[in-house]
Amino acid sequence: MKITPLIRKAAQTLDTPFLVLDLKYVKENYINQKNAIDNVNIFYAVKANSHIKILELLRDLGSSFDAASRGEIDKLLSLGVTPDRISFGNTIKKEVDIKYAWEKGINYFAVDSEMEVEKISRNAPGARVYGRIATSSNDADWPLSGKFGTDVDHVISILEYAHRKGLTPYGVSFHVGSQSYNKYKWKEAILNASEVFEKLADKGIYLKLLNLGGGVPVQHVKPIPSVKEIGEVINESIKEYLGWVDGLKVFTEPGRSMVGNAGIMTSRVLLRSKKGTQDWVYLDVGVFHGLMETIENFRYEVVVEGKEDQETTSMTLAGPSCDSVDTIYDEVELPIDTDYNDIVYFVNTGAYTTEYAAPHFNGITPPVVFTLEELKEELSKKAKIPMEELI
Ligand SMILES: Cc1ncc(COP(=O)(O)O)c(C=O)c1O
Repeated sequence: MKITPLIRKAAQTLDTPFLVLDLKYVKENYINQKNAIDNVNIFYAVKANSHIKILELLRDLGSSFDAASRGEIDKLLSLGVTPDRISFGNTIKKEVDIKYAWEKGINYFAVDSEMEVEKISRNAPGARVYGRIATSSNDADWPLSGKFGTDVDHVISILEYAHRKGLTPYGVSFHVGSQSYNKYKWKEAILNASEVFEKLADKGIYLKLLNLGGGVPVQHVKPIPSVKEIGEVINESIKEYLGWVDGLKVFTEPGRSMVGNAGIMTSRVLLRSKKGTQDWVYLDVGVFHGLMETIENFRYEVVVEGKEDQETTSMTLAGPSCDSVDTIYDEVELPIDTDYNDIVYFVNTGAYTTEYAAPHFNGITPPVVFTLEELKEELSKKAKIPMEELI
């Protein structure tokens, strides 16, 4: 997303920090993914950004949704999303929530352990379960295997167990790791998934679902493969390894790639100081209030207003709270003259930012979130500029 003159004007006029969301990118991302992957059913991963306007837009575009918890399920149901468009994709669910989801009519449940199968069989008898395989995730900025997923043989035995427990073994899922740079990771994972399909078919259990998870990257500071390129690898791999499966359903669970490029975080410098030889810049936004992913050194493009062309030097960038974990980057190149009150943008921060923000840590309020329309209204009010002049 571009830092438009409107956003620059808003940054100068309104209190920071705030996150601006431009929903036209979400629409474009949804359509691009639909076009890139043959016969795909998109289940938007709500955890990336559960802003109501995003959910409503995706609902109206025909998207389905991947929910991590009862809270997300309730939000979706309250927006009129029907249960057949919701998957309970967390492999660690509360038993009462499984029951709740099942009674509401949800019928896709992720598993990667026998115990989860038992919990589901007790509370959602006959439900469809899909087994999550682990991937190597080593080309992703945010690996999601280890905690989630298990090896192919284990997934096979979990799904057989589900069958014995009266559940419906329905398919296989994986996640190549969030912000994955290697399009061939999907090929490797589809090959692994096909082994589960084949070995279970040999035992008379016929799976229907291939859930490709998320992982499609957003443009930050390194080159990325496009969703079109990733889609080509996926389409070929499905034909090659799973072409034999009758009526195969293909799901994806994109989070980052639906909303990441639809947001810009706007902040201001609260303090610049020098500690020994190191320059420190402290902002009014930090790790606990929207920039949580930076604790794993997730890199955003950082822009200091009006100083884009200036020579840069390495500085430490930190947030405002009284906690040393609230250090955004130990080293980042910033304009030499970065100074008190400068406006600092974090580009393409629509995913996993405000969603992570602590509501009251240190008594600091998280960034306000504006859609572009709301930003115009706010700006028009505060700066007394007629709406029609704000483009
Ligand atoms: C089960 C599941 N699906 C999908 C996603 C979304 O992944 P991404 O944001 O990389 O598209 C996540 C992210 O944590 C996840 O846990």
